[in-house]
Amino acid sequence: MNSVTLALPSELHEIDSECVLWLCAPADINAAISTLPVSSQVFVKQVLDDEAFTGAEGQSVLLHRPVGLAAKRWLIFGVGDLKHDIALSFDHHSANHGTRQLFVEAFKRALSSHSSTITLVLPYHFSQPSVNSEQVFAGKNKKKTTEEMLISQLLRAFYFGCYQFKGYKSSPHLSSKEEPALTISAPPTQPLLTCLKYENSLANGMQLARDLSHMPANICTPMYLAEQATRLASNFSAITSEIINQSALEALSMNAYLAVNRASAFPASMPVIHYSGRRDGNNEDDKNAHPVVLIGKGVTFDSGGVSLKRGSDMHHMIYDMAGAACVLGVISAAAELGLNINIIGILATAENSIGGNAYRPGDIITTHSKQTVEIISTDAEGRMLICDALSYSEQFSPQSIIDIATLTGAAITALGHKCSSVMSNSRPLEQALIKAGEESQDPVWPFPIWPEYQEAIASSHADMANAGKNSPGMITAGCFLSRFSQGFPWAHLDVAGTAFKHGTANSATGRPIPLLLTYLQRLASSRKSS
Ligand code: BES
Ligand code: ZN
Ligand code: MN
Repeated sequence: MNSVTLALPSELHEIDSECVLWLCAPADINAAISTLPVSSQVFVKQVLDDEAFTGAEGQSVLLHRPVGLAAKRWLIFGVGDLKHDIALSFDHHSANHGTRQLFVEAFKRALSSHSSTITLVLPYHFSQPSVNSEQVFAGKNKKKTTEEMLISQLLRAFYFGCYQFKGYKSSPHLSSKEEPALTISAPPTQPLLTCLKYENSLANGMQLARDLSHMPANICTPMYLAEQATRLASNFSAITSEIINQSALEALSMNAYLAVNRASAFPASMPVIHYSGRRDGNNEDDKNAHPVVLIGKGVTFDSGGVSLKRGSDMHHMIYDMAGAACVLGVISAAAELGLNINIIGILATAENSIGGNAYRPGDIITTHSKQTVEIISTDAEGRMLICDALSYSEQFSPQSIIDIATLTGAAITALGHKCSSVMSNSRPLEQALIKAGEESQDPVWPFPIWPEYQEAIASSHADMANAGKNSPGMITAGCFLSRFSQGFPWAHLDVAGTAFKHGTANSATGRPIPLLLTYLQRLASSRKSS
């Protein structure tokens, strides 16, 4: 469990930590130094002069056992004038990109000192009530807001920079470092404590999702994901879970869902998680009223099935359950925060394997909604799972349904790894998600699913095909799903490019949990009474 703490700023020289990470800006560096004991001031000034340290962005100086200061190490880190965004207004993702990177760099340097405790000291003016931040930095926000936002920005950088998948090396101590305990030198005021709780819960949820995403398919099986749902239910009293098993799925005619898992050695199942956090109504009816339904693609391994994938990149397909991991992470964060809202999470799990009983190209399948689908590619399996989960969800009278899926390689072609896509049948829902993405710096960009695009999945013998030919793949997948979500506000997030990045040790990102948690929190706090 992640837990950063706040501590009343004591005198700087009394901070007893293995590493003090001291953020300094050029405009207030002299004032900052003057808060040290006189005996240390001369020494620190001298070192900073020698190293030509001005507080410019990314500059740093590491002092070992500095004279007159209690801490073992001082890492003095320049943050510049934070000119792109000291306001940290959160209203434009790329405006904050530079700051996030800068803060990640600061923590990476502090971490490389192998300190087990780090105390973060904010730029001088944040600790001085009499100083107006506008005079120091070019920001627009009032000091209080800025401090919360600065801290939330720093915490995201800390958790992001610190995250390490433990892995399975037989000598783990050689590879993985212990996570340091971080204390922020700031008074534990209510707004800061609220901010801290939010960031800690978000980080816990993201860590859960990232860990699960990294687990290989021989460990993270569909049953393993189901166990995670059960575990959430035992950890939080507001959560219950049910696992819809193979025979129940058969009884429900979830034939598209079942087709994907048919050649798997594991039985089909569909975990459903209920978080009942809504408090403001006191009658029973209200308790389950209008939940937000989150459906996560949980393909624990996507071989492509009979439409087999190329071998070279196939091992990346252990991440094809990142959508389901995101749903688990976001619900656990919502429960930890006690959000005043009802959420239903559906883990659309399966293993897309090959075998004599596998579904094949050319098969025609009658879905749970009774619409028929001609299989063009068994590698377009995510939409087969999600389409049945969507029509299954109608019974909950949801206020909105959001599916989260590593659905198409075309999403990576369109947007790279920077941004998820959103396709929706509801303009207000789409706008709310875009806004939540901006606020949480976990952006999404909208794509059209107009009738013009629907032609791509016309089929001569069934109601539709599961894939198009020479059509834009991401939009085609969105069009397919839209046919199963007619009766309610629905949005589809294609996170193939954002949920993980190949080629790095810690490639799972935990996205789009920041976006979804912001979306849910906004809904929960806007609903005072029904
Ligand atoms: N899981 C893949 C999409 C994917 C590809 C995610 C690469 C992350 C990285 C999905 O099931 C898939 O195979 N999609 C096909 C659809 C096609 C057959 C219509 C694709 O994108 O090629
Ligand atoms: Zn897939
Ligand atoms: Mn596939």
